[in-house]
Amino acid sequence: MQILQPDIHTIELASLIIKNGGLVAFPTETVYGLGANGFNPTAVAKIFEAKGRPKFNPLILHICDAAQIKQISTIDINSIQNLITAFFPGPLTLVIPKSDIVPDIVTAGNSTVAVRMPNHKIALELIKTAGVPIAAPSANKFGKLSPTTANHVAKQLKDKVDIILDGGKCSVGVESTIIEISGNDYYLLRPGGLATEEIEKVINKKLLKKENSKNPNAPGQLLFHYAPGIPIKFLNDISIEETKGKKIGALLFSEKYLDYSFAEKKCLTTTNSYIEAASNLFYMLHELELKNIDIILAEPVPEIGLGKAIMDRLKKAVNTFK
Ligand code: TXA
Ligand code: MG
Repeated sequence: MQILQPDIHTIELASLIIKNGGLVAFPTETVYGLGANGFNPTAVAKIFEAKGRPKFNPLILHICDAAQIKQISTIDINSIQNLITAFFPGPLTLVIPKSDIVPDIVTAGNSTVAVRMPNHKIALELIKTAGVPIAAPSANKFGKLSPTTANHVAKQLKDKVDIILDGGKCSVGVESTIIEISGNDYYLLRPGGLATEEIEKVINKKLLKKENSKNPNAPGQLLFHYAPGIPIKFLNDISIEETKGKKIGALLFSEKYLDYSFAEKKCLTTTNSYIEAASNLFYMLHELELKNIDIILAEPVPEIGLGKAIMDRLKKAVNTFK
């Protein structure tokens, strides 16, 4: 495994690896992706193996040009033009009907495919040079913290990936928002780096919740995920009381607990900004994971704007240790 600075030559090398069925970790504006040729089932299988990811969990195809949607989906592009115009490239993934060209392993046998155009120069250049959509989940071990730097990727996947393109710290810092489009209905599958309020303004209606009680393995609906290597709970007066005597790493949002003496303290934002907090979420959890602490206590964040994505990730991390 090599961490490479992206330039014309290294992107060319990375695209050759993709064309030849290998794995490349690359930066996007949300988190780092673990990419393979989305049209090559054997290459895509390596992603599942590298992550230890269950095969029922489908992958996102990353594109660099909206015209590629016609190749991988049967949807009438006019029906999603408003979303494409407003949010591509950007932290939005659309789940739409797949075309026959998309291998079943990418969609986990579903009749839909997830599509996203990342808003990142290196990612777009890589997809363009490779000449195929790149299938990529977040470049972490299944269930663990998502990576927002090249070193985070190396920490979890160093023997599993051919090269890592180093694009520095991801600007958005949480994964894309995923919506499924079914006829005239829009379902929110995962809150993420694009605020749901922004999407609702463009589609001019509310996003619906997907009923998944019949199938707990429904894609994107796992209740445990994004867990650091150290137990994590929500920060409140009770959890502080319960963890007395333990070395606490606090992940703060507001000023409420600023004066407490914790063993370690990280502030997600200094300006009360949900965007800044999201960009620091995984980054600071990765930092806390490396500290000599017994438990992480994370302050709940109001579920407004990107606060929804932050709380989704924190709740799933907390659930893992229940
Ligand atoms: O920001 C992101 O979305 C990052 C970067 C690398 O683009 N990728 C990412 O991928 O977060 P991953 O695999 O960690 O999460 C993709 C989610 C999964 O929860 C999966 O279940 C859901 O997308 N998904 C993929 N295809 C789907 C489909 N056809 N129907 C429903 N959900 C789908
Ligand atoms: Mg992931």
